[in-house]
Amino acid sequence: MAKYRIGLGVTGGIAAYKAVEVLRLLQKADCDVSVAMTRHATEFVQPLTFRALTDKHVIVDDYDPENPDPIAHINFSQEIDLLLIVPATANIIGKFANGVADDFLSSTYLATTAMVMVAPAMNTTMWEQPATQRNVTQLKADGVYFVEPVAGELACKTVGTGKLEDVENIVRQALALVGELGSRGVGETNTHDLRSEHFLITVGGTREAIDPVRFISNHSSGKMGFAVAEAAATRGAKVTVVAGVTTVEPPANVNVIRAVSAEDMHTAVKGEIANATVFVGAAAVADYAPANAADAKIKKDGRDVMTLELKKTPDILSEVSKNRRDGMLVVGFAAETNDVVGYARSKIEKKGLDLVVANDITKAGAGFNTDTNIATILTRSGGEIELPLMSKREMADRILDEIVRLRKG
Ligand code: PMT
Repeated sequence: MAKYRIGLGVTGGIAAYKAVEVLRLLQKADCDVSVAMTRHATEFVQPLTFRALTDKHVIVDDYDPENPDPIAHINFSQEIDLLLIVPATANIIGKFANGVADDFLSSTYLATTAMVMVAPAMNTTMWEQPATQRNVTQLKADGVYFVEPVAGELACKTVGTGKLEDVENIVRQALALVGELGSRGVGETNTHDLRSEHFLITVGGTREAIDPVRFISNHSSGKMGFAVAEAAATRGAKVTVVAGVTTVEPPANVNVIRAVSAEDMHTAVKGEIANATVFVGAAAVADYAPANAADAKIKKDGRDVMTLELKKTPDILSEVSKNRRDGMLVVGFAAETNDVVGYARSKIEKKGLDLVVANDITKAGAGFNTDTNIATILTRSGGEIELPLMSKREMADRILDEIVRLRKG
């Protein structure tokens, strides 16, 4: 059995001939490749070339009487792990970004739940056009992967960015993409199984000002929350992150809104929650903030002891849960040092959660600022899944698997 099933989409540019080499390299890597071409692509390379190499019908037009499958765009789109477009013209990028489905390939894009990777190639001016860049930004936000074009001499004899990346690099990136998730089993998480979800995720720590110089905070780096955000976007979800103070960069494929204090985070979440179908509270939000932050630096004035009056911050997670719309899932985290599962389970009740991820922050390799974590996932219905030491990215996928299971009911 082939390792991965790839749908290779070829569109009408001079680099279309390089798709033949991509096909050969994918086949060498033990992939089962099916080819679809746009009508313009057939002006550059004959479908017969791909047909001879794949021993399969090459689909250009759903309505072609010679097409053996009457609903080809549905079947083709469901039987692949990755839709790879090489080369991608500005036209197909525009169609994908705007949901236009007026030919086989663009209909396939709309119909697929597979991951999508696009390798553009075009004249520099076309690539740099604001319209093209807008469409590229939109597709990235939609979870589409790009193998960016490179600089070099173009077919139009100009020099600039727009040249198709080396075919070896395209194939390497495509295999890395399916391989990364494929290690979990083709057809299991290799799909955009969160495509219809919009995640709103709080990430990182908050800073509560004492005065303009000092603050109360915690050790959260943002690694766990960003890992969940990246994994959800990779699996096709639209993702908005409200990030407090973090020590790592956010993933490229998500929208990020910055917040500093618990109050800021609360305001940002209220502004975004209307669009969310899943809320994940991964942030370590300060439970208390100074009741009256000083406007000027507080002087020591010989005092050995200083008392700070603290007031409770808004409990963002509880509030989201209390006001949730029908069908919205609410997921919390719990960072505990003792009776981890007991305290976490009580949070399910107190905060009205569907699921809580409990980490014992006293364990080596778990909790704050580590690349790994150890946790127990608890569900409202009494489910308990122990997750041993693993990378936060891997754990993010395990959490998302449970969210998918809850959604299926
Ligand atoms: O960021 P890293 O360095 O990768 O570390 C990861 C982590 C340890 C921060 C993360 O995995 C984690 O456990 N986050 C939650 C930490 C926490 O604040 O736990 P808590 O038990 O105090 O809060 C319970 C839940 O209520 C959390 O989902 C929290 O986001 C939420 N909460 C808490 C207080 C508040 N005012 N508003 C909230 O929304």
